[in-house]
Amino acid sequence: MSKYKYPNRVPFYKFLLKSSSIAKNPIPFHNETFNTYGDTISIKSPFYGYIVLTRDAAIAKHILQKKHKVYHKSKIQTKYLSKYVGYGLLTSNDEYWLQQRRLIQPAFHKEKIKNLVDIINATVNEQVDLIKPETAIDLYPIMNELAFEVVAKSLFNFSAEKETLKRLQFIIARLQEFIVKELRQPFTKLWYWLKGDVRYHMKLVKESREIINSIIDQRRASNKQHDDLLDMLLHAQYEDGTSMTNDQLIDEILILFVAGHETTANALTFTLKLIAQHNEVLKKVEAEVEQLSQQQVSPLQELSQLNYIKCCVEESMRLYPPAWITDRVNVEDDDMGNYNLKKGTIVGASIFEIHRNKEYWSNSEQFKPDRFLEENRKKILPYYMPFGAGPRLCIGNNFAMYEMMLVVKAIVKRFIISTDDNEIKMNPLITLKPIGVKISLEER
Ligand code: HEM
Repeated sequence: MSKYKYPNRVPFYKFLLKSSSIAKNPIPFHNETFNTYGDTISIKSPFYGYIVLTRDAAIAKHILQKKHKVYHKSKIQTKYLSKYVGYGLLTSNDEYWLQQRRLIQPAFHKEKIKNLVDIINATVNEQVDLIKPETAIDLYPIMNELAFEVVAKSLFNFSAEKETLKRLQFIIARLQEFIVKELRQPFTKLWYWLKGDVRYHMKLVKESREIINSIIDQRRASNKQHDDLLDMLLHAQYEDGTSMTNDQLIDEILILFVAGHETTANALTFTLKLIAQHNEVLKKVEAEVEQLSQQQVSPLQELSQLNYIKCCVEESMRLYPPAWITDRVNVEDDDMGNYNLKKGTIVGASIFEIHRNKEYWSNSEQFKPDRFLEENRKKILPYYMPFGAGPRLCIGNNFAMYEMMLVVKAIVKRFIISTDDNEIKMNPLITLKPIGVKISLEER
């Protein structure tokens, strides 16, 4: 008898039968499988061996937090992503990751992020000023532009030309699209290579690295203080007193762009749509914004008063977590609750399904921001993980929350938002992307 014990096994043929619909959207298959086989399941793949998938929050915490030393990031997040976006915090493992995390963490500490709030707020207001009131406006492109600008200005403040940033934005978008294509259809890799697509995208990688390199060189040559993330990254020192090389800086900067802008744009799109769909919620948001506009306070003080908007953002990321799934691989055999997993098992945690698991959430499909009010939040936090958990928790979580709260406030202050459709369509790629989400904006 095998010494290994896996969760309930879903026959591989069931997976094969649905493989084309799973490739388009795996969420319905995950949901159906959990409902039939239990909250943690396994599939034995002829290519990858055992794969475990869970919507059990305790198991997610086991791999992300409790046994993080045994569970490393899989090749999807390391090898495949780093080929295009560099070997930085998001895409590294082991000692190198720890060394970089220790170095970069202080720049994202709540106290340090507070220094960036003025840059974030000014960029948000600039971008919201560009929005034209319109009926049924497609939100995602606007939020994507906005979120890119916020990361760019926070990194480089005013040291990069508009045209240069536009080119960088174009390249990062193309690279992200191509990564998704390669990951979703691995069998077409050779075809992309033969067609020259891989070469084209590697050329774009080179160009993006050159752009960032010249911004770094200019900054190194100037003796001005910019109080942005680039200043913090340039001055951060390892234990031996050295700091990052240009190549390391480029890797980390590319990662911050990739990890930090699409996720935020997705969450903002879902949040604004959900608020527009729920009139009673919208009224409370408007009241909070109205109360604030009667005071003269700094953006930082504003943030401490946007309590209900914060609940709306949090509840929106419960229903539509931008990082909807994550995975790890165990580097040694492991006892995981009632199971014993052989070294090399891929374990996926569906944050999407954990956030809708009826065991943890009442009326789990409904948008109810009140769940996150101070008096209620303690009992739900163990099951809530939009920013991951454990030592690899999102480094930009405070940055993202501040940004999103300021955007919702700025839009509701400027526009009357509404919508007449109740549907929200999504596409789970590397991040959970909204599809064709529209709202109407009328000038106040
Ligand atoms: C709503 C917005 C965001 C969401 C939902 C989000 C979510 C996440 C999640 C779930 C992880 C952990 C992945 C895993 O453990 O496998 C992560 C990691 C990371 N995020 Fe975010 N993120 C957001 C915004 C940001 C922003 C604004 C930045 C930076 C400006 C950022 C930078 C990073 C980095 C560098 C990592 C890797 C950390 C490490 O492994 O040490 N993220 N993010």
